[in-house]
Formats: sequence, structure tokens, C-alpha cells
Amino acid sequence: MISIKDLKNYQLIVNSELFQKEKEFIQHGDTTVYEHSLLVAEESLKIARKLKWKIEEESLIKGALLHDYFLYDWHVKEKYHRFHGIKHPIFSRNNASRDFSLNKKEENMILSHMFPLCPIIPRYKESWILFMADKISATKETLSYVRRNNKFLNKVKEFVWNE
Ligand SMILES: [Fe+2]
Ligand SMILES: [Fe+2]
Repeated sequence: MISIKDLKNYQLIVNSELFQKEKEFIQHGDTTVYEHSLLVAEESLKIARKLKWKIEEESLIKGALLHDYFLYDWHVKEKYHRFHGIKHPIFSRNNASRDFSLNKKEENMILSHMFPLCPIIPRYKESWILFMADKISATKETLSYVRRNNKFLNKVKEFVWNE
């Protein structure tokens, strides 16, 4: 079984200048958009292989890596990205198709990853896998941040386990 790093879209996208810029933008907790996108791509491949679904791995990885390719810091208030949650799939699709050209499936993956908040239905197996992987990764990132930063929780742990 080939590793994610052997996929040609992985190398092409991860090494590109603008994708590297995602290291500057925070997504959830203290995870950057860059880290989040890599985690979602890995999670997507894991889910696809676990379910043994027949899918196109190159497209899966491309859509997953680029699903949050909106290229701004959504914590900074700017008029054009108000309602970020609803609008960012469209910004990401536009940027991704400009920089990497997308097929119909990859476009649907990116546009539907916030379904039903953004009312575009996931129409391919790859879209549903990305949808799941994104939610799983976002939850893991947020929980690990809360765990590391929650003073109350740390006090309880200290008390219970004498850590
Ligand atoms: Fe997103
Ligand atoms: Fe995401």
C-alpha cells in the first residue's frame, strides 16, 4: 500500500508556495490551517482504506488538502470574509481551481465539506469521506487544545492523579 507522501498531488500541493502560507493561519485551537489540512488528508485516506471503498486516492488527497485553501486568517475581522463558515468553501474552491485546476469531483468535495451550513450536497464517496475526516480532525484538534489549556481540568487531574 503506498503512503500518502508517495501520491503525486500530495507533493505538488504541500510543496507549493501558497499552501506553505497556511502555516501562518490558525484554524482550531492552536492548530494551523496547514497542520489541519495535512491531518484531514491523512484521516481521509485512513477512512477510505478502512471502509475499503473504491475511490480515487489522488482526488481524495487533492480535495482534502485544499478544502480549507481560503488563504486568510479568519480570526481577523474583514468584511469580505464575514460569515466565514458559510463562504470559505467557495473561496477555497476558487483559489484551488486557479492554482491546481480541479475536476468536478474535487470541486464538489471542497464545496460540500460544510454541508448543510453551506447547502451543497456531497455527491461522491470522496466528498463524504472528506466530510467525516474534517469533523473528526476538528474535534481532535479542539479537544487536545482544551485538554492542554484548561486550567480547571489540569487542577482536577493534578488532584486525582497527583500529576
Ligand atoms: Fe472548512
Ligand atoms: Fe477543515
